[in-house]
Amino acid sequence: MSVCIRVAASSPPTQAGSFVHSTRDAALEILNDFVLGVDKSGKITFIEEGKNVDRLAQEQGFNTADVENLGPGEFFMPGMVDTHIHASQYTYMGTALDLPLLQWLNTYTFPVESRYRDLKFARDVYTKVVKRTLRNGTTTACYFATIHTDASLLLGQIADDLGQRALVGKVCMDINPMVPQYKELLDESKDETLRFIRELLQKKYPRVKPVVTPRFAVSCSSSLLDALGEIARSSGLHIQSHISENKEEVELVKQLFPDCLSYTDVYLKHGLLTDKTVMAHGCHLTDEELKIFHKNGASISHCPSSNISLMSGILNVRNVQKHKVKLGLGTDVAGGYSASILDAVRRAIDTSKVLTIEHPQLRPLTFEEVFWLATLGGSEALSLDDRIGNFEVGKDFDALRVNVSVPGGPLDVFPEDVLKVIVEKFLNLGKTPWLSFISLFLQYG
Ligand code: GUN
Ligand code: ZN
Repeated sequence: MSVCIRVAASSPPTQAGSFVHSTRDAALEILNDFVLGVDKSGKITFIEEGKNVDRLAQEQGFNTADVENLGPGEFFMPGMVDTHIHASQYTYMGTALDLPLLQWLNTYTFPVESRYRDLKFARDVYTKVVKRTLRNGTTTACYFATIHTDASLLLGQIADDLGQRALVGKVCMDINPMVPQYKELLDESKDETLRFIRELLQKKYPRVKPVVTPRFAVSCSSSLLDALGEIARSSGLHIQSHISENKEEVELVKQLFPDCLSYTDVYLKHGLLTDKTVMAHGCHLTDEELKIFHKNGASISHCPSSNISLMSGILNVRNVQKHKVKLGLGTDVAGGYSASILDAVRRAIDTSKVLTIEHPQLRPLTFEEVFWLATLGGSEALSLDDRIGNFEVGKDFDALRVNVSVPGGPLDVFPEDVLKVIVEKFLNLGKTPWLSFISLFLQYG
């Protein structure tokens, strides 16, 4: 069985059943037999115990017969947030994982990304990646596209058409000695970034916004970083980039920016470390750098699959938490070989256990904590937690309807399994719907 509900703007639905989400106080809150209301604009108007449904029906003016009840084995959870994914690398996802970062970029990534001048190619790949991530339960994605403005605009349009919330970045880079055909001139990068932002904002997509995207310090001149910092400041937009992913890269940045105290200082000095910045990886950040992240309200996208596949390093999540730096999960396709945040959930737990083997004093991450990272943590990392991340009243109803009782599904549920156990099984064993599992994206409006 596979269900897809389209919630019409004219008929705000009320859902009843089990809801699972994170709150500021609890990594995993389980609400059994609750009822949730959504208004015409898709916002949650109430979430209360099911026994109050008659009173709620009177107060809120709905008919109890119209309440949609979840079936056995079903629960709602917040849509998952992929805080870092390269839509343009989707063609070779699952391959080309045999080289470390800088060699990998030159050998596989730049030649592929240079093809996105071709809009037909871009449309095909971007349609596939948005469909795939939606099917995997990613209702919000923070995308890197390529240096090509029109193809990047197309990615925004496709995300909007298919109903995904997205931050879309036209990549900026004016240095690329190894693959010189894939780079921009300084002025071109600035002008095209401004055009990208202007044209994307003009579309007034309700859930798709531009994000200022210097690729990383290695491929941007100081002048370009300055210009992008200024564009981000004057527009108030989000910023995304990469930081301290791999030791060779960190050394290179030291050489390229000798006047900066650290990799973090490079972005800070160029106005690119704000409370709307998300930096991917951060495996080799020092405590001093993490303090700067915290002070500036910048966040980290933890990409454990990519960190292992490209042999980059292992992020010490406990240390990030100690420094109170905002953190979400990223697939980092195609450095990561899966476009599923459920995969990132599993890799995050596994890599934290590897750190525990090496440093027994470090507690491994729990499934509840990683559920939080995949949902509320991701929304905080993207500074979207006023709109999504959990089922708080006033937020958008951005949810997955999960059914663990699908015949032939990837997991078995036993009579003694309480919902917390079922959620743990789902996080560890759940599969995408085309493999007989339901992960439902709700559209509204
Ligand atoms: N650093 C700069 N560009 C990239 C990229 O495309 N992928 C990853 N993983 N790291 C990067
Ligand atoms: Zn990346």
